[in-house]
Amino acid sequence: MSRKILVLPGDGIGPEITAEAVKVLDVCRVQGLDVTLEEGLVGGAGYDAFGAPLPAATLDKARTADAVLLGAVGGPKWDGLEDIGKRPEQGLLGLRKELNLFGNLRPAILYPQLAEASSLKPEIVSGLDIMIVRELTGGIYFGQPRGIEERDGQRVGFNTYVYSEAEIERIGRVAFEMAGKRGNKLCSVDKANVLEVTMLWREVINRLAPEYPDVELSHMYVDNAAMQLVRAPKQFDVIVTGNMFGDILSDAAAMLTGSIGMLPSASLNEHGQGMYEPCHGSAPDIAGQGLANPLATILSVAMLLRYSLDENALALRIERAVGRVLDQGLRTADIAYPGTRQVTTAEMGDAVVTAFHEG
Ligand code: NAD
Ligand code: IPM
Ligand code: MN
Repeated sequence: MSRKILVLPGDGIGPEITAEAVKVLDVCRVQGLDVTLEEGLVGGAGYDAFGAPLPAATLDKARTADAVLLGAVGGPKWDGLEDIGKRPEQGLLGLRKELNLFGNLRPAILYPQLAEASSLKPEIVSGLDIMIVRELTGGIYFGQPRGIEERDGQRVGFNTYVYSEAEIERIGRVAFEMAGKRGNKLCSVDKANVLEVTMLWREVINRLAPEYPDVELSHMYVDNAAMQLVRAPKQFDVIVTGNMFGDILSDAAAMLTGSIGMLPSASLNEHGQGMYEPCHGSAPDIAGQGLANPLATILSVAMLLRYSLDENALALRIERAVGRVLDQGLRTADIAYPGTRQVTTAEMGDAVVTAFHEG
């Protein structure tokens, strides 16, 4: 039976980068991958068309899809919207919550060809291969109560940082299992010296550890983790952390790989259904100029094939094609440096397709 992929281009550079990722999916179809692609509106595009960042039709399509491929959402056009529920970012958060995509995998891998593009010295980053496992449907992003209200004659803003034991346990298991398939090292990142919610986080992660005797578990405070990521990032194998810390640390980790335009992601629920998107945003500053790097989105397609469609051979082939294009010296502006050849978003996508054909 043909499997269904819902493509949600979104806003800003979203349509440009998803167009390149769809080229790669199309070439997989030529190779016999039996998938049907559908499109939908999300984010600012959903708001402009239907007055909602997550239109009901989009959510319905997402529920029945085997996987969702998303570009990016948001932009200055919608930043003034006072009702937070109408803002583009809520489309993304709504999809994550409604599909229960609690397990977010963000692999920060340095392609050796990009050692010079990283903002860190090549010897610090060469061989880098970190997996950040970010909890995605809980924590301060979703805790209640939240809001802005009048208290004692002035307005106060508040959010609630909350995790249940069950939420911590399920993301903990994803991380331990991931570590078991990789380098057997797991570092749990928290702020257990200050926040009760992360004291509980640490306790639950510790409680799981005996079930995974091969995995060496450590704990680190998030401020130190941010520092260690830029000091000696190769000390990490798998990092597990909550929603907001994971958001911040993954952008920092992205720069180790040369550019935020290189970091893909998978967001999974317990049924293997997933949403795949680059970790970066809609990059309004470069939208519409052919400057965006489509590789994070193309590598997200590889993750989609691996995690939701069980097509590991095709996933590897895409990752190899990306490596080959980098070998050829082709670079979008964000990863270009003297001696490389700068190409546009579309030229990069075409080059990956060509390299894919070559095997
Ligand atoms: P951003 O990630 O969009 O951009 C940060 C910087 O990185 C910019 O200079 C941008 O040009 C650059 N950049 C990002 N992706 C790139 C790519 N593929 N190739 C080359 N350069 C790239 O973050 P921001 O500027 O803080 O946010 C812009 C908008 O995107 C906001 O509305 C924000 O809410 C939204 N956002 C959406 C997502 C998402 O959809 N998953 C993620 C982050 C931010
Ligand atoms: C990400 C983004 C989102 C997040 C925003 C746009 C809601 O920054 O996917 O990293 O904070 O999770
Ligand atoms: Mn982010």
